Amino acid sequence: MSKPRRGKLPREREKGQLFFWLEIILVSSAFSLVVYFGFEPKYSPFSFVYFIGLLYFIRKFLKESTDEPIKKFNILLFTFVGTLLWFFLQKALIEKLNIRMTTDFVYFSIPYAFSPLVLAFLFEPIISLYLTIIISLGVLGITGNPAFSLFSFITGLSSIYGVVHYSRMKRGSIYRTIFLVILPISIVFLLLINLFSYSSKDLAINGLAIFINVIILAFLASFLIPVLEYVFKIVSPLRLVELSNTNLEIFKKMALEAPGTFHHSLMVATISERAADAIGANSLLARVGALYHDIGKLKMPQYFTENQVNIPNPHAGKPPSLSSLIIINHVKEGIEMGRNLGLPQEIIDFIAQHHGTTLVKFFYLKAKEMKMEVDESAFRYPGPRPRTKETAIVMIADGCEAAVNSLEDQDEERIRETVDGVIKYLMGEGQFDEAPITFKEIRIVKGEVIKILSAIYHKRIEYPEEEIRNGSKQTEKNKDR
Ligand SMILES: [Fe+2]
Ligand SMILES: [Fe+2]
Repeated sequence: MSKPRRGKLPREREKGQLFFWLEIILVSSAFSLVVYFGFEPKYSPFSFVYFIGLLYFIRKFLKESTDEPIKKFNILLFTFVGTLLWFFLQKALIEKLNIRMTTDFVYFSIPYAFSPLVLAFLFEPIISLYLTIIISLGVLGITGNPAFSLFSFITGLSSIYGVVHYSRMKRGSIYRTIFLVILPISIVFLLLINLFSYSSKDLAINGLAIFINVIILAFLASFLIPVLEYVFKIVSPLRLVELSNTNLEIFKKMALEAPGTFHHSLMVATISERAADAIGANSLLARVGALYHDIGKLKMPQYFTENQVNIPNPHAGKPPSLSSLIIINHVKEGIEMGRNLGLPQEIIDFIAQHHGTTLVKFFYLKAKEMKMEVDESAFRYPGPRPRTKETAIVMIADGCEAAVNSLEDQDEERIRETVDGVIKYLMGEGQFDEAPITFKEIRIVKGEVIKILSAIYHKRIEYPEEEIRNGSKQTEKNKDR
């Protein structure tokens, strides 16, 4: 489930490269200074070269294997440096307080699993795994004791397992991972190594150290994960789940004031989620994007077909250009509302891109019919066109759902034809030219859309109330697109 990357202009790329090297050199210098003052000065040139190489390869790996590599790289560095700083801080504090503790106690009480836990929670586990290896190598270098290196490795792995097992979609997973996975595994680890080299007195003290370790870990992780989400503007799966809650005020308002739009958004969300899943795109992101795509209609809900049940058509008597302007405006209003709601940019992108630069055909044709002087560009949405797979999927699902909903005969054949027509129209208009979606993927998406729309609409025409409702819609078919 990855989010496709956007293309970058050459100048942006050059700038990015410059920052990348600057960051790597700065961080490597900082590490070698730590080595110079904290350990052996003679090792510092080696550590400088070592860190430059290490960071370069991590960055390269992230760039090739995941989306948003820069953001992930920065967070990786942040949590890594954070763990390192915490290490020295805690060590220095224990020494300063003159607490007579063994070195074992000090090293067992340090929360090495902090970075792996945070990264596993926010991103894919693979990044976390790499960092776990790096940290345990670092711990080996600093402590010179393989037992602590193994301890940090095992706690790191446990944190990845815990987060995956308890799902990244719940904040409670952090505590479950720490207390139900990391803590027992650490105790078992301690018992095992105790069999070989530790006395029973050490066992109790080190057990206490591990307990302190997990308490610090719980405190740091629960405090810093939301901070990182906010500072780095991460749209974590958990944040998406929170945003998809239809009990949120915005959806309650939508259900009340624009019930047609609310129903339509739920449909588009279901279709988009399934279609995204079918092509390996981020289905949760597509779902949430679809839920919010039409929030701008809340400003003037009665102007949109789906909300015109038992009310006079407010477009009557208005010049087509004005009607079209009102329709087009729901994108601009939506973006503004999205910003006020504090939605992440990734979700606002769905609002901005779901109509791309398509034409408000109904009013454009009406204007032409009325033999008015027609400037085509005035009837077009401002765009931009979809730039990710997910926004392209929502564009397809949105167009198809609205078109099928306004069909008189919603049999499978008609649904198939309509979906085909909508996608052909969008492709003909070049709406997917900026999105990294392939023909093959569009074909798979089409198959999913037909399947779901047929399942939803096919049998519903047998209900008389539905016929009445649909019948009233036929008068202003597909007006908002
Ligand atoms: Fe829309
Ligand atoms: Fe829509």
